[in-house]
Amino acid sequence: MAPHPLIEKFRHAGQGQVFAFFDRLTPAAQTHLLAETAEIDLAEVAHLTRTLLAPGATAGVNLAGLTPAPYELRPEHGGDAAAWAQAKAAGEAALRVGRVAVFTVAGGQGTRLGYDGPKGTFPVTPLKRKPLFQVFAEKIHAAGVRYGRPLHWFIMTSHQNHAATEAFFAEHKFFGLDPARVHFFRQGRMPAVDFAGRILLETPGTLALSPDGHGGSLRALERSGALDLMAREGIDTLSYFQVDNPLVRCVDPAFIGWHLQRGSQMSSKMVPKAYPEEKLGHFCVQGGRLVVVEYSDLPMALQRETDAGGRLRYLAGSIAIHVLDREFIRHVARGEGMALPFHRADKKIPTVDAAGQPVKPAAANGVKFELFVFDALPFAKNPLVIETRRADDFSPVKNAEGVDSPQTCRDDQIRQFVRWLQAGGAAVETDATGLPSATLEVSPLFGYDEDSFAEAWKKRSPRPAVSDGLYLV
Ligand code: UTP
Repeated sequence: MAPHPLIEKFRHAGQGQVFAFFDRLTPAAQTHLLAETAEIDLAEVAHLTRTLLAPGATAGVNLAGLTPAPYELRPEHGGDAAAWAQAKAAGEAALRVGRVAVFTVAGGQGTRLGYDGPKGTFPVTPLKRKPLFQVFAEKIHAAGVRYGRPLHWFIMTSHQNHAATEAFFAEHKFFGLDPARVHFFRQGRMPAVDFAGRILLETPGTLALSPDGHGGSLRALERSGALDLMAREGIDTLSYFQVDNPLVRCVDPAFIGWHLQRGSQMSSKMVPKAYPEEKLGHFCVQGGRLVVVEYSDLPMALQRETDAGGRLRYLAGSIAIHVLDREFIRHVARGEGMALPFHRADKKIPTVDAAGQPVKPAAANGVKFELFVFDALPFAKNPLVIETRRADDFSPVKNAEGVDSPQTCRDDQIRQFVRWLQAGGAAVETDATGLPSATLEVSPLFGYDEDSFAEAWKKRSPRPAVSDGLYLV
């Protein structure tokens, strides 16, 4: 019998090894492997092998003509307070007419945290141990009430965590949101290859496939029909954030307003880097375009460079919070003269040996290919970076311990609640870092940002004493 045309095609492309055990598989497993291989764009893999795996391809990014990017300073750092107020009003107006939707990328593998389950189900709040998804759901619900328009929420999952994510929401009755406004879709996958560009098997009957990076979200938004749904609903603006950051303002009127008033197709928030070695990407300008240069790609000498005032020159750190225009996403997704580039990540990729036995490599044995969402910035018209206060927007849970861990994130949430309470006149003793001895929590349904908290606190009567275990809802 002639081999299956797909098998022929793979052999012809020098990728016949993925069918090395084909004859030993059950008919069902053969069908499964054929379906997986049908997903692979062999020309793309060949192109990536040529461009990213060839000797010298790791020589580093081109830094020619790189300069730090300008950004809109916050008023307390000299920014124009009237312009910020105007932006906020414009953002609120957009929210009131329903032009904005929320988008969470939740397809990552969360390897560093090492938590069993989709990262969005990780219990993150200090007192009630609410999962990340619940924190966002409640913020989104409260913002919908505040602006009189319930928001649509798009959640990008991966093949690995899609079913578990949907089941989690169903089990928790969508945390009070209307299920018709919560939309899940899977991101794409890419095959992992060895250092010679040969596609790896994970088992004798399955390919080593992994999510195509958060930049895959743009094509997934288009492919899933999310952009069409937005168009039908009159939504032209998408507020983007990552699943691991419970501090984020899911919709920030000032940010949305800046974006809209400038006619920007993609806007980003920055925080001033806390120290030169901090692992954030850097907003830069190159050849007249806004780019993000990763911390691993910017030489340490540049990261340490200071200006005449002693401040870091490359100060603007990216915290992966963006606002995007719907039709811009469509153009990028379709690759209309603006395809995102893949990046290579050398990883330990579980695979099989020549006998089909499992191999758990001790060192990197291959490469995964990923797209990054910030690579869309150079293609955007009027791209914009605005400053935000880290304490109001950014405390991710990346690692099990140490920096950016559940502990640091818990403390940052409590510090934020304390600042809101103190601004409302409550007496709260704290240490020098702003942390009280009491563990307390504010439900996003009570207040989800400075303004909504202040309004709710003003109305609360009688006001509870701030003590250990206080939960404001
Ligand atoms: P990270 O870069 O922190 O990766 O993702 P990760 O997979 O969550 O964690 P590690 O590196 O394995 O420990 C940043 C954000 O981008 C999303 C993640 O879910 C997170 O919200 N992401 C990342 C995707 O949605 N898809 C991807 O393919 C990669």
